[in-house]
Amino acid sequence: MKILGIETTCDETAAGVVEDGRILSNVVSSQIRLHRRFHGVVPELAARAHLQRIAEVVESALEGRKVDAVAFARGPGLMGPLLVGKMAALAAAESLGCPAVAVNHLEGHVFAAELCGKLRYPLVTLIVSGGHTDLLLCRAPGRYRLLGRTRDDAAGEAYDKVARMLGRGYPGGPVIDRLARRGDPRAVAFARPMLPGTWDFSFAGIKTAMLYHLRDLKRAPSRREVADLCASFQEAVVETLVRKTIAAALHFRVKQVVVGGGVAANGRLRQAFSEAAQKHGISIQIPPPILCTDNGVMLAQAASHRLRRGRVGRSLRCDPGLGFENWGA
Ligand code: KG4
Ligand code: ZN
Repeated sequence: MKILGIETTCDETAAGVVEDGRILSNVVSSQIRLHRRFHGVVPELAARAHLQRIAEVVESALEGRKVDAVAFARGPGLMGPLLVGKMAALAAAESLGCPAVAVNHLEGHVFAAELCGKLRYPLVTLIVSGGHTDLLLCRAPGRYRLLGRTRDDAAGEAYDKVARMLGRGYPGGPVIDRLARRGDPRAVAFARPMLPGTWDFSFAGIKTAMLYHLRDLKRAPSRREVADLCASFQEAVVETLVRKTIAAALHFRVKQVVVGGGVAANGRLRQAFSEAAQKHGISIQIPPPILCTDNGVMLAQAASHRLRRGRVGRSLRCDPGLGFENWGA
């Protein structure tokens, strides 16, 4: 079965085609340059840019192919961008004579991993993106139990805000990832917020500690200090994410850990997860960076499970997904 996936939840206009777990095309048009000067995504500009680019992106993903279904994200995401994606998907489905399937964007981040190999259930999955940090137990596609999530900033949001504090542009994740490679992760001792007794996360404290550190410095940090701060901040975030996720995997005795979302593109996070997994004998699946950040093929793959379960009609009758957060609903 061939499925076209259309992604427009935030600042990536993307589309791709998947056939039985194989990627046939994957087109991503990033709006980063458009939003950079505002140090963040401007929803109205994003919606307009999606509208300008969507037809071309979908056409180049299709390359004249016929597909059996069109998937789109019904949330979570920005209202205008979501509507552009939904309208594009409905139009494409109508003209191709196939059903449109609404999927949860976060569920897409989980199934990006399946494009790299079969998933083994039950699994624990950590979704770390610009808006979410969710830890879930998944017994089968569509069967999720939310174990914990961030109580304040998402991991990606903390990266973006800290990069901004350091005057280092948007999006902050890739910038900090790069700068941290030259820094000492032990230079500044940021706390690891473990929130014992829960599977929740909290990153606002690390972010505030960074703010106070910079304020107390009373001058602009040197290049060396910026590298050290990035490495120390990153180590605190990564250690928290890895420790809690591995602890959940051991507690629930799962067969695999799956990590997804933009922050899963982070070099140090990937390295720390593979070290921890090896140490504890846990199988881990993290897609390559290009499939961690937003894309259309992850939605197509998530939709393949919905189609198999016959959930297409119900999905389409649902609300377009503004603020949609229900896992597997
Ligand atoms: O999943 P995603 O592309 O969009 C959302 O669904 O939010 O995630 C975007 C987030 C941004 O906060 C960005 O800074 C972060 O992922 N990110 C990274 C890296 N690449 C993207 N964070 C850390 N290291 C990276 N290499
Ligand atoms: Zn995303």
